[in-house]
Amino acid sequence: MSNARTAVKLLMENPLAAGLRLERIPAPHVLVIFGASGDLTHRKIVPALYRLALQNWLPTGFSIVGFSRRPWTSDVFRAHVEEAIRTYVGPPDPTVWENFARGIHYLSGQYDDPRAYRELLALLRRLDAERGTGGNRLFYLATPPSVFPEIIQRLGRDGLAEGPGWTRLVIEKPFGHDLTSARELNALVRRFFREEQIYRIDHYLGKETVQNILVFRFANAIFEPIWNRRYVDHVQITVAEQVGVEHRGGYYEQAGALRDMVQNHLLQLLTLTAMEPPIAFEADDVRDKKVDVLRAIPRYRVEDVARYVVRGQYGPGWIMGQPVPGYRQEPKINPQSTTETYVALRLQVNNWRWQGVPFYLRTGKRLPKRVTEIAVQFREVPHLLFPELGTFINPNVLALRIQPDEGISLRFEVKQPGPSMLIRSVNMEFLYGRAFGVRTPDAYERLMLDAMLGDQTLFTRADEVEQAWQVIDPILQAWAEQEPPAFPNYEAGTWGPDEANTLLQREGRRWRRL
Ligand code: BG6
Repeated sequence: MSNARTAVKLLMENPLAAGLRLERIPAPHVLVIFGASGDLTHRKIVPALYRLALQNWLPTGFSIVGFSRRPWTSDVFRAHVEEAIRTYVGPPDPTVWENFARGIHYLSGQYDDPRAYRELLALLRRLDAERGTGGNRLFYLATPPSVFPEIIQRLGRDGLAEGPGWTRLVIEKPFGHDLTSARELNALVRRFFREEQIYRIDHYLGKETVQNILVFRFANAIFEPIWNRRYVDHVQITVAEQVGVEHRGGYYEQAGALRDMVQNHLLQLLTLTAMEPPIAFEADDVRDKKVDVLRAIPRYRVEDVARYVVRGQYGPGWIMGQPVPGYRQEPKINPQSTTETYVALRLQVNNWRWQGVPFYLRTGKRLPKRVTEIAVQFREVPHLLFPELGTFINPNVLALRIQPDEGISLRFEVKQPGPSMLIRSVNMEFLYGRAFGVRTPDAYERLMLDAMLGDQTLFTRADEVEQAWQVIDPILQAWAEQEPPAFPNYEAGTWGPDEANTLLQREGRRWRRL
C-alpha cells in the first residue's frame, strides 16, 4: 500500500492520527559527525537520519560528512551506515537509500590536526557548490567528551565556527563531569560560538512523552489549578533500567548513576513537572522557567547528603529468570569499584508553588524492569466519611508514564458493587499506542530535526546545565569525603538498597510498586 493510502486508511480508522505532520523541512545543509565510527553514530544518529529521510523530512542536497580517526574511505563509511540502517531500522528502501547514500562522505583525521580541518573546509565548500548546501553546517560532537575541547578549538581557530550560511554545534552528553568542568566547557564553546549556535543534547527531551508533560499541564485547564502544594503531597520520579552497564564500563566507572542519569535526565523530568507556565513555547521562555526550578532547589550541605541521598551498586542476581553478574564482575570494571549504579534522593523546590512538597527521585541499573514514570501523589482526603472502612483511603495518583507503555493514568477510589460500603482503587488509563496507533519516533529523530531547523527549545542552555551541576556537585563532594557504603548493596533484579525505602518510610511514604 502506498504511503498516502496507508495514511488515509489510518485516518479513517483513527481520526486522532490527523495533524501528525507539521510541515517543517530544514534548509539544505551539511551534517558533520565527529566520532563517525563510534557507537552513538551507529546506534542512534544514523538510524534517526535515515528515518527522517524515509519520511521526507530531509532537504534536497542534504549531505553527511563522517569524521573520525579511523582510516576509512567514504565507501567504507557508507557500508557502515547501511549496516546500521539494516540493524536498527530494517532493509533500506532502494530509492531512499540511493539518494541518501549519494550525500555520504568521510574524512579521516586526528581531532587536533589543523590539516584535517583544512580538508574538511575544502570538502564543505565543494559540497556547497555541488549539492547546493548553501554554506549551512551542522557540526555534531559524538566523540568521547575528552576530545570535545580539541574539536571546538579547531573549528573556532580554523574558521569553521562561522560560515557563509548558518553554523550550529550539537554537543552530546555528558556536558562536563562536575560544575567546574561544565563551566570550563561552556566558556570554551562560547569563545568561538554564540549561545544561539549551541545545541546541548539531553535525549530525554526528545521523547514524545516528555514533551507531552508540557502539553498535559498547559493545554488542559483542569490540572493546573491543583498542580501545587495545596493539593500535591509529593512527587516520585523513577527511571528504572533492567540493563546493566553493558559494554560501557570504561565510561561508566568514571560517571556513575548520579552523573549519568540524575544530573541530566531526572532533573530535566523534574523541571518540566515543576516549572511555571512559560509565556510562549519558545526556546528561551521555556528554558527560563526550567532554570527557575533548578535555582529553587536548595543545595545540600555535606550533612544533608547522608540523610537525603542513597547510593547503591548491584551485586550478582537474576533478571527475567537468567543469572547476571554483579557490577564489579562486568567487563572493564574495577573489582573493588565504588561507582554507584543506583541513586535515590529527596529534593525540594523552594518556591510559592512547591514549598514543602518533596520530590523523590530514583534511578538504577539492573532493576526488575525498565520503566520511567512521574507520579504526582495528591493529598489524602481531609475527612473520612466512611469510618467503618478503617482509617486509610488511598490518595489519588496521577502517573505520567514516559516509557514503555507510554500513557497517563489516574488512580481514584470507587465503591465496589454490592450491599456494603466497600471502596476500591481503580485506574483510568490513556495509552498512546492504543489511541494513536502510530510509531513513536525516536528521541534522536526529533532532536536532529530541531537542530537542523534551528529550534533550541528541546536543548539545554548553558545556565541550565550549570544550575543542574550546582544541585549535583555538593553530593559528589560529600561522597568524595565519606566512606562509600559496603557495595554491592542490592541484588541485580531487585528494587535497589533498603536505605532507599527508609528514605521515604521516615516521612510516612513509600515508593510506588511498578
Ligand atoms: C543514557 C545513559 O544517557 O541514557 C545510559 O548514558 C542509559 O546509561 C540511557 O542507559 C537511558 O536512555 P533510555 O532512552 O533508554 O531511557
